[in-house]
Amino acid sequence: MSKTEFAAIVLAAGQGTRMKSQQPKVLHSLLGRPMVSYPVAASLAAGADRVVVVVGHGAGAVTAALTDRFGDRVTTALQTQQLGTGHAAQCGASALPRYDGYFLILPGDCPLITSEVLGALLDRARADDSDFAMITSSLPDATGYGRVIRNGVGRPVAIVEERDCTDSQRTITEFNPGIYVVKAEFFRQEIERLDTNNAQGELYLTDLLALASKSGTVSDVHMPSNGLHGINDRAQLVARERDLRMEIVHRHLGAGVTIRDPETTFIDADVTIEPDVTIESGVHLRGRCHVATGAHIDTGCVLTHVTVGANTSVLPYTVAAESQIGASARIGPFSHLRPGSELGDEVHMGNFVETKKTVMARGAKANHLAYLGDGIVGEKCNVGAGTIFCNYDGFNKHQTVLEDNVFVGSDSQLIAPVTVGRDAYVGSGSTVTQDVPAEALAIGRARQVNKPGLATRLRAKLKAERDRRKAAKSG
Ligand code: UD1
Ligand code: CA
Repeated sequence: MSKTEFAAIVLAAGQGTRMKSQQPKVLHSLLGRPMVSYPVAASLAAGADRVVVVVGHGAGAVTAALTDRFGDRVTTALQTQQLGTGHAAQCGASALPRYDGYFLILPGDCPLITSEVLGALLDRARADDSDFAMITSSLPDATGYGRVIRNGVGRPVAIVEERDCTDSQRTITEFNPGIYVVKAEFFRQEIERLDTNNAQGELYLTDLLALASKSGTVSDVHMPSNGLHGINDRAQLVARERDLRMEIVHRHLGAGVTIRDPETTFIDADVTIEPDVTIESGVHLRGRCHVATGAHIDTGCVLTHVTVGANTSVLPYTVAAESQIGASARIGPFSHLRPGSELGDEVHMGNFVETKKTVMARGAKANHLAYLGDGIVGEKCNVGAGTIFCNYDGFNKHQTVLEDNVFVGSDSQLIAPVTVGRDAYVGSGSTVTQDVPAEALAIGRARQVNKPGLATRLRAKLKAERDRRKAAKSG
């Protein structure tokens, strides 16, 4: 047996009844990543040869989420009936039939776990050549966790679940975080001996400790409780997400990012931020965002899968999803970038401008009140207030193309598909239904007529009508 080898078995087949959810517990997300991805990532980072995730409830969805994140670095083993953590571990081990290193067994609901903690337990198991090694921890109130029972000489000899505890056992503050390292060989031989003599009638993996303390060598490492919490309900979910969130904010602060108000800033785990970025209060960066150096994300912005170029300013309350913003651009306040918006360097986009599947080339501007859907806006174009790219006819979407340096006057509608040639000019209030040649001026609106004196006559007539109505009412 090579001393450096280990395979991880992550237990994730349970429904998570206490979450009261249609969704399997391990798919609930923390900072944009499914819960189960955390122990898997920590196992991989600790150097696991193989990672087997035991799936059951929502097996298809859990497997899909794992494949999406980890590809073929992770495999799954099916536990068709949830007969307990001991049975789950057995299902995982049966996917590793010839493996002869250590099994690292951990729950799928411990998202704060780190590779360092796992590494420390593995090191202890190797150093002691133990058959069974576990982490223990302490909390003033360990309610909900299995308690660690030690014998007269201080060796751990059993784990008793909360619901199987006597009153005095319930006062024990040392608990079992559910993370074990077991020699594969020893595991296969002992796991058959578990029984269901407990409050839940399940096969408890925790009973392996009692067996190991009789027939093998047992080690334990005591660790601080932060990082070891399990998640069983929604209150624990949000509490742990908050812990993770603060950890991430502090990591970015340490890497040269100003985060004005950590308490109100939400940065998902997959977000990357370069030094010298400033993030104001109330900002949400979700999914896979990247923010380049010198950028400023002002208060209240919500960005989901968005890249922001260097020195760009995203002004307050901008909402953007699945979009790219170039360098030295100025976006917002109150801009809305819907999926597929690609804004080039030096683009200016102002309040109440919405883009969708639209490319704006370098230096293009749309400063106020516009809807630009399915468009291509060339370099240095200026799109006036109230412009609409009419992209949808009720059945199909069509494209509007503005070549470079086009000026679109305010309150114009461009009925797609339509192309406006380079350097052309669209007069304000135009409805453009035909292509505009380069350098042309397009005017598509009714001609104005002025009727001298008519305003005065109109007012007199309207006033007379109102006075008659009032008189009729009071009389
Ligand atoms: C378990 C431990 C408890 C420990 C706690 C740490 C047992 C019996 N108890 O309790 O000592 O303090 O974790 O957080 O092990 N699972 C399966 N198949 C099953 C049952 C569970 O895959 O048949 C998975 C769950 O999806 C979950 C993990 O195993 O990810 C732990 O199960 P859970 O029901 O949360 O155990 P706890 O009651 O928290
Ligand atoms: Ca749990």
